Amino acid sequence: MNGQAGPSAHPYTIKAGCHMLRDWSDVYLIGIADIDQQHRGFFAASHRLYEDILDREGKSAVTEAITFMRDYAESHFQTEEVFMREHDYPAIKEHLRQHVAFFRSLDELENDLMIFGPSQDLADRALDITQDWLIDHIADEDMLYSLHIKGRLASS
Ligand SMILES: [Fe+2]
Ligand SMILES: [Fe+2]
Repeated sequence: MNGQAGPSAHPYTIKAGCHMLRDWSDVYLIGIADIDQQHRGFFAASHRLYEDILDREGKSAVTEAITFMRDYAESHFQTEEVFMREHDYPAIKEHLRQHVAFFRSLDELENDLMIFGPSQDLADRALDITQDWLIDHIADEDMLYSLHIKGRLASS
């Protein structure tokens, strides 16, 4: 990062220095191999999006990275939904609402990228709504259904 953020044309504000690329850590594992593998891929898609926005190579690279992120998230969330349904996870509705909210944030980001063009601010926001969102979502939500599923498997 070279610190040349430029004027922000969007009211969305981020505390400087809060957002950084984080390496994958086993702290994020929830103990279901397929899901853990997908979470790693989600991280990678998030980093690719951040870097493509920073590269400012033009709108097509950014659009591709957004599309890749959206497709990746869609297939990951579908995997989770199947697991949750298979195991009668009681809080599935609330969990799925959060997945829907993720797409809303991504749509808003894409919209702003199209209007304002790539910038440091929007790259930071991309990291906030993808990588940082995922870290919180794993800890607060995915971990819960994992515990539920593991509990059921252990008692069956
Ligand atoms: Fe997940
Ligand atoms: Fe999830």
